[in-house]
Amino acid sequence: MTYVPKHELRADAEAGDPSVRLSAVTKSYQTGEVAVLALRGLNLTVPQGQFVVILGPSGSGKTTLMNVIGGIENPSTGEVIVAGADLTGSDDASLTEYRRQQVGFVFQFFNLIPTLTAFENVALVAELVGLGESEAQAALAEVGLADRADHFPSALSGGEQQRVAIARALVKRPAVLLADEPTGSLDLETGRQVLAALRRAADDTGCTVLLVTHNRAIADMADRVLHLGSGELEGDVTNPHPVAASEVSW
Ligand SMILES: Nc1ncnc2c1ncn2[C@@H]1O[C@H](COP(=O)(O)OP(=O)(O)OP(=O)(O)O)[C@@H](O)[C@H]1O
Ligand SMILES: [Mg+2]
Repeated sequence: MTYVPKHELRADAEAGDPSVRLSAVTKSYQTGEVAVLALRGLNLTVPQGQFVVILGPSGSGKTTLMNVIGGIENPSTGEVIVAGADLTGSDDASLTEYRRQQVGFVFQFFNLIPTLTAFENVALVAELVGLGESEAQAALAEVGLADRADHFPSALSGGEQQRVAIARALVKRPAVLLADEPTGSLDLETGRQVLAALRRAADDTGCTVLLVTHNRAIADMADRVLHLGSGELEGDVTNPHPVAASEVSW
């Protein structure tokens, strides 16, 4: 079974609609007396289906940016629009619904439920959005793990666990997939398999992929590379010739 591209599912979307749009977004954290400005007026438009790699030193605001786009945190000022939904004006209930329907998260440490099989981990999320077992099975097949469906996480390699996490994120056909250091704890070969699965998500399902990494080599496979520095967008470079995940090397 193949995925229906997201843009075909969203009949209301205008052709060429941006998937993610941030206007003058700031985020400050108040800890005691000290205010930290984690994002300092970001403007960013990402078209649907783009594969974007985000680089930047520790503390530059990468995770904060993902959390703001993922509806986990509200920006302090500015506007965030994802898949046509204005997050800034949303109440908690609509933000929860937005996260559930439109956002897939992938983290460094897989976060699978250890007492559930690979299939059950994916099926649980499918059920939340009204999908069934066939979609869960299809998502596992999409990341090349159809034959590992009945394995528990402890019986899977790190790369396989991360691909289950990607299947779990993709099963609901999110508008955006947010991956924060998804290969941070993987070796080169398993890391490449995970990157290939993320790339396929963008190419085959029309999902917009934002991937945060400290690994500059991964930028070679991106359509576009953003550099964050101290909460500001310091670089925004289009890559006309992204390489295949199998050619990325570190
Ligand atoms: N919940 C929080 N409360 C207070 N300050 C925070 C909070 N979350 C992040 N910060 C601060 O905001 C800034 C940006 O943090 P963020 O986690 O976005 O950085 P990052 O680029 O993801 O770093 P890393 O590469 O280490 O993951 C940092 O100065 C951080 O200390
Ligand atoms: Mg971070």
